[in-house]
Amino acid sequence: MDIRKLNMDEEPPMDLLLLADPSRILVEEYLQRGECFVAERDGQIIGVYVLLPTRPEMVELVNIAVIGTQHGRGIGKQLIINAIQTAKSSGYRTIEVGTGNSSIGQLAFYQKCGFRIIGIDIDFFIRHYSEEIFENGIQCKDMVRLSQDL
Ligand SMILES: CC(C)(COP(=O)(O)OP(=O)(O)OC[C@H]1O[C@@H](n2cnc3c(N)ncnc32)[C@H](O)[C@@H]1OP(=O)(O)O)[C@@H](O)C(=O)NCCC(=O)NCCS
Repeated sequence: MDIRKLNMDEEPPMDLLLLADPSRILVEEYLQRGECFVAERDGQIIGVYVLLPTRPEMVELVNIAVIGTQHGRGIGKQLIINAIQTAKSSGYRTIEVGTGNSSIGQLAFYQKCGFRIIGIDIDFFIRHYSEEIFENGIQCKDMVRLSQDL
C-alpha cells in the first residue's frame, strides 16, 4: 500500500470522505484549506485522510476513512502513523482530532492510535449539521476532542 498526497488536479475520493463526515458542504470547505492524502493498492484508493492547519504549531485531522471491505486490517492505523509523520516533518507540535459522542468505535480507534481526550464541544453537531445523526442508538450531539503531542 502506498500513501501519497493527492495532486491538485485529481478528484478527492468524495464517497470515502463522506463515510467519515456526512456534510458535503463541510468536506468541500476543508478540502479547499487542507491537504488530502490517499492510500492506494493496485491503483485503487482504499483510504484517505485530510490535515488542516488550525493554529500555530497545531494541525487537525479533519477526516479519515478506509473503504468498508478493508476495515479492521490495520489500514486506519497506518494512515494515522503517516499523518503523524507528515505533521511532524511539517513542523507541527500537536495533532488534534474530533469525533462524535456516539462514535464509540472511532473513540476506541483514536485512543488505540495514541490520542487522548482533551475536551468536549457541547452541541457541536446540533449547531453545524442540519440532519440529526444517530449511531449505536445514541444521538450524536457533542464533539469529543482528542489530541497527541508530536
Ligand atoms: C475509523 C476507521 C478509519 C478505522 O480504520 P481501520 O482500518 O478499520 O482501523 P484499524 O484496523 O487500523 O484499527 C486500529 C486499532 O483500532 C481498533 N479499532 C478500529 N475500529 C474499531 C472499532 N469500530 N471498535 C473498536 N476498536 C476499533 C482496532 O481493533 C485496532 O486495534 P489494535 O491496534 O489493538 O489492533 C474506519 O473504521 C473507517 O473508515 N470508518 C468509517 C469512517 C469514519 O468513521 N471515520 C472517522 C470519523 S470520526
